[in-house]
Amino acid sequence: MNRPCTPDNCADCSDMIVCRCLQVTETQVVRMIERLELRSVRDLSKYTGAGEGCTCCHAKLQEYIERFHCEAAALG
Ligand code: FES
Repeated sequence: MNRPCTPDNCADCSDMIVCRCLQVTETQVVRMIERLELRSVRDLSKYTGAGEGCTCCHAKLQEYIERFHCEAAALG
């Protein structure tokens, strides 16, 4: 379970929050992209909840999707 991200607990945080509105972590986002081979922010939102608030994180979510598919293509 994720703790609320505050300046007081960031120093020992083991995972980075990607979507602050929904408290979705980088690990959760990457795992879903890998497992389900998600290709859109819409699908990522559907399976993680990320991006369903203010939408500020959409560009970052898109970067994760593109990075995964670039790396997967490079590995063949
Ligand atoms: S930060 Fe992700 S929806 Fe607001």
